[in-house]
Amino acid sequence: MAKPKVFVTRMIPEAGLSMVRDFCDADIWPGELPPPRELVLEKVKGVDGILSLLTTKMDSVVMDAVGAGLKVISNYAVGFDNIDIPEATKRGIPVGHTPGVLTDTTADFAFTLLMAAARRVVEGDKYTRAGKWKTWGPSLLLGQDVHGATLGIIGFGRIGRGMAKRATGFDMNILYYDEYVPADNPFAAEIGARSVDLDTLLRESDFVSVHTPLTAETHHLIDADTLARMKSTAILVNSARGPLVDPTALFDALQSGGIAYAALDVTEPEPIPVDHPLLTLDNIIIAPHIASGSVVTRDRMAVMAANNLIAGLTGEKLPNCVNPEVYG
Ligand code: DGY
Repeated sequence: MAKPKVFVTRMIPEAGLSMVRDFCDADIWPGELPPPRELVLEKVKGVDGILSLLTTKMDSVVMDAVGAGLKVISNYAVGFDNIDIPEATKRGIPVGHTPGVLTDTTADFAFTLLMAAARRVVEGDKYTRAGKWKTWGPSLLLGQDVHGATLGIIGFGRIGRGMAKRATGFDMNILYYDEYVPADNPFAAEIGARSVDLDTLLRESDFVSVHTPLTAETHHLIDADTLARMKSTAILVNSARGPLVDPTALFDALQSGGIAYAALDVTEPEPIPVDHPLLTLDNIIIAPHIASGSVVTRDRMAVMAANNLIAGLTGEKLPNCVNPEVYG
């Protein structure tokens, strides 16, 4: 019997790729960069399934280009804002993603960003490499204490909770804002985190860490208004999605002393252009979207994405499905 045809929009770790190759007639884009849009539209013609990465848009135009036989889209990411979910659902196409396996690795990195910003690690490294370190100094690169400080978590899902768990090890006072999580949830009670409204969180937090999905409602959730409500000493961490933060407003706030520091793993746009004004500032750290990037986690994501793809191709329920309503 002929194997199902799939298009894989980028190389993923061999742990998952070998499963895809074994089960499918796979066309795998070998480039280091995402395939150009025209090429995607060409490659997907007549496939049964697509294994996509967050760097490639899966919208109605792509779905139209495939034709009627598309059985599954499996995203190699927990986030799925690159996919038009309502459109896929309307067409009865299940969409897979990779929740859970990257929670701790991503939370580790978000906390790393928080610590690195608080203690000015990147500035310190640059200072040393520039040959500026002449002696120990009482006021050299002074930062902010993490222990005992107040951490405000926006979005109390898996990764937000992972961040909170880590913060307990530093005796932080933990606030969270998430309109979908009840104030009396047992996890919050167990670790002593307090549910507050957004205004209270912004006003009281020394660190604000964003962990909410990107939707039309959360686009530029952190803008000139929300930044103005934060402490002038506050540090902003974003390891979720770039467009949650308005980059122009962030630049203004960092430059004018509206807030003290930012540490981002994600930007708008991505990648951030090298001549972007944010990159002229010393009080910001920008990493290239690597929060889930440990060897083990990326392998697990690849296996999970392959399993979702194969389930969709065989007509089984995806183990991790974004739009289970397609199954009625
Ligand atoms: C995701 O999975 O959504 C991350 O952004 C990449 O791991």
